Amino acid sequence: MRVKNVIAAMLFFVSILCLSSCVGNESDTANELYVGVTCYDLSDAFVSELLECFKASCNDREITVTIRDAVGAQRTQNDQVQELIDEGCNVLCVNLVDRTDPSEIIDMAREREVPIIFFNREPVAEDLRQWDNLYYVGAYSRQSGVMQGELAAETIWKNKSIDRNKDGKIQYVMLEGETGHQDSVIRTEYAVNTLKEKGIELERLSYGIANWNRVQAQNRMSQMLSRHGEEIELVLSNNDDMALGAIDAYMELDVEETNLPAFFGIDGISESLEAVKDGTMTATVYNNKEGQAEAMTELSYSLMTGKEMKNVKFENGQCVYMDYVKVTPDNVKEFLAREKEQ
Ligand code: GAL
Ligand code: CA
Repeated sequence: MRVKNVIAAMLFFVSILCLSSCVGNESDTANELYVGVTCYDLSDAFVSELLECFKASCNDREITVTIRDAVGAQRTQNDQVQELIDEGCNVLCVNLVDRTDPSEIIDMAREREVPIIFFNREPVAEDLRQWDNLYYVGAYSRQSGVMQGELAAETIWKNKSIDRNKDGKIQYVMLEGETGHQDSVIRTEYAVNTLKEKGIELERLSYGIANWNRVQAQNRMSQMLSRHGEEIELVLSNNDDMALGAIDAYMELDVEETNLPAFFGIDGISESLEAVKDGTMTATVYNNKEGQAEAMTELSYSLMTGKEMKNVKFENGQCVYMDYVKVTPDNVKEFLAREKEQ
């Protein structure tokens, strides 16, 4: 009994101490660290994994997060921003629906002096200059395209059977993300150019726009397959979810293993890491979601508390770009282990 009383008294003192320090200026904000997030579409595989990481890292710092889904409509997103500001958020994290149309959002935030961290869908540089409380956290599109091209070139060199018809050229199809998204245009261009620079002769049979989406990609791939069938030796995809959709199309037709092309994605979402491990996907490029989430959290925290950032490195004072990493069957286990730690 006595021990219990002593403990109770100690707890009481500790809580008084906490309370009095909370009344002090610095921790005043401790209960009020509130970040409002709106994303272009929560059904996007990569963005939803990125937001899971963001929630976890905010949780570690006792930051409250509210996430809204704009389901592909810029109007809805603008309304969500207004609501989040009215609810008292201290920082906004915005994954723009239309990356060329942030002006209304910027005006609303500026009026109430709420800083904005754009993420994953990069506003054009001119828009970022509209106000000095605007930031961007993402990755270098170009680097991911180059890495995908390098991975494909290495595979083709090592594995002569990829040129199935032995004509010295690689017949390929390209699955593209949304038109106008920085990652579709640039990844496509740099993946293809890198392969060419590495001395691989290419012949594009077809391409399909599938908006990052697995089901759309499966449909596009089925159409391409019905036209080109076994001619296709290589499938390059702007992201993993579409590469998985392309694989689904082949599985549905029960194509023999010797007639399967090599599949390359980008992102390193959970399911594609498994696919690289079991060999259905040849390789992918890791889009560092943990790093991006951590940078968003650290930046939000710093904007709310005024505390200095330790790990965030800016480019042009406003942008943070996390490096991509190549994922092959040789190192995929490290990435899978990282997933399990989460
Ligand atoms: C890309 C990612 C895609 C998709 C897109 C959405 O960076 O690779 O899978 O999530 O962002 O903006
Ligand atoms: Ca060939």
